[in-house]
Amino acid sequence: MYRVDTNVKGHLEIAGKSTTDLVEAYGTPLMVYDETMIRDKARAFRNAFIESGLSFQVAYASKAFLCKEMVRLADQENLSLDVVSGGELYTALEAGFPAERIHFHGNNKSEDELSMALDAEIGCFVVDNFLELELLHDLAKQREQRVNILLRVTPGVEAHTHDYIMTGQDDSKFGFGITNGQAAQAIQIALRKPFYTVLGIHSHIGSQIFELDGFEKAILVLADFLQDMRAQYGVILPVFNIGGGFGVRYTEEDQPLPIATYVKAIAESVKSLFTEHQYPLPEVWIEPGRSIVAEAGTTLYKVGSKKIIPDIRTYVAIDGGMTDNIRPALYQAKYHAILANRPNEECTELVSIAGKCCESGDMLIWDLKLPPTNFGDILAVFSTGAYGYSMANNYNRIPRPAVVFVKNGESRVVIERETYADLVRRDR
Ligand code: LLP
Repeated sequence: MYRVDTNVKGHLEIAGKSTTDLVEAYGTPLMVYDETMIRDKARAFRNAFIESGLSFQVAYASKAFLCKEMVRLADQENLSLDVVSGGELYTALEAGFPAERIHFHGNNKSEDELSMALDAEIGCFVVDNFLELELLHDLAKQREQRVNILLRVTPGVEAHTHDYIMTGQDDSKFGFGITNGQAAQAIQIALRKPFYTVLGIHSHIGSQIFELDGFEKAILVLADFLQDMRAQYGVILPVFNIGGGFGVRYTEEDQPLPIATYVKAIAESVKSLFTEHQYPLPEVWIEPGRSIVAEAGTTLYKVGSKKIIPDIRTYVAIDGGMTDNIRPALYQAKYHAILANRPNEECTELVSIAGKCCESGDMLIWDLKLPPTNFGDILAVFSTGAYGYSMANNYNRIPRPAVVFVKNGESRVVIERETYADLVRRDR
C-alpha cells in the first residue's frame, strides 16, 4: 500500500505540507518532490557501497529529472552526474557541479558537445561508437588535453523490461558489441591513442529492472571480457561501470528490491568473479536515475470534465496528461492515484483518467478506483518523479507544470511554471 499521510483536514500531505495548500499556492498541474526522500535514496546507494568495502562512484542519471536545484542536491549528496547531452551538461555546469564528477554519455555526441565537455574538463567520456572514438581523440589532440574514457559495451544480456528501455542486447543502438568483437576492437584502438586514458568499460542493460540475474549475467560476461582484454593487450582497467536500471514501485503490483539488495548483489558478483580471475578489484560505478527520484515525485492535477458512457466507462479528465507524463502513452506505464482532498473516502467508482490533449492515447490511468469525483477535486498521481518532467513537452501548446521541492513542511519552487509567453518566445 502507498503510505498516505493526511493532515487535520483529512487532506493528503507530502513531506509535512498539505497538497491542497500547495495547489492553492502554485496551481496545477504541479510536480511535487519530497526532497528528503530523494536524499535518502541517494544515501541508500552510497551507504550500501560503503558497506561493500569497494571503491565506488554513484552517478545520478540526470535524464530522469534535472534542474539546477537537482544538480545542487546531487552535489550535496556526493553523487557524480551522468549527462547525455549538451543541455544536461550545461545545466550541471551552470549550477556549479564539479566537472571532475561529470560523466558524459550518448550515442551521437556532436563536435560542439564534445568541445564543451573538453572545455569544462569533465571527469570522463563514455565513448559509444567508432566515430566518437576518433572524433573525441582528434579534438583532445588538437588541444593537447588528456581525457579519461570508458568504453560503452553491450554484453548481449536481455533485461526483463519494456523493449524500448532495454539496452544491453546485441541489437542495440548503444555501445560496442562484445559478441561480435567490436568491443575488443574498440579497446585496441583506444589503447593506442596517446591522449586517451582508458579507465574501463561501461554497460547499461536497461531500466525498471526488478531481478538481480540480469546484472549478474552482465557482470559475468564483462568480467570474462576484461580477462580476455588483459590476455590480449596486457591491460588492466581500473573502472567497472554497470549502469543504472534499478526498478521502482509505480503501483502496488511492483515489488522492487531494496536499493541495498541491488548494490550488494552487484558488489558480491564483482568481488567473486574478479577474485576468481585474479583481476585487481575495480572501482565500481553505477548510474541510478529512476530509483533516486521516481517515488519522491507526485503530480497534482485538478479534476475537470467527466464523461459517463453507460455500461462502458467513465472518463475523468485532468488538466495535464501526456504533456507532463508521456510514460503511459509511450510504454503503457501504470500509475496509482488518489483524491488528494478526500484520500480517506471509500473508493466506489471505477474511472479512467484522461489527459487534456487532442489524442485518444492521452490516458494516464485506465480503471482506477476513486471516491465519486467532482469538478475541482485534486488528483494525486504517485511515483511520477522520473522521466515525467524530463520528458515533458508542449504538445497542443500546453505549458509545462511548475516543480516544487518540499521538506519538513516547507515548499520552494525549483522550476517555474511555463507561461503562454514562454511558448511563443522563440517564434518568429
Ligand atoms: N545509464 C545509462 C547509460 C542509461 O541509458 C540510463 C537510462 C540510466 C543510466 C538510468 O537508468 P534508470 O536508473 O533511470 O533506470 N524514459 C524511460 C527510461 C529510459 C532510460 C534511459 N536510460 C522511462 O520513462 O521508463
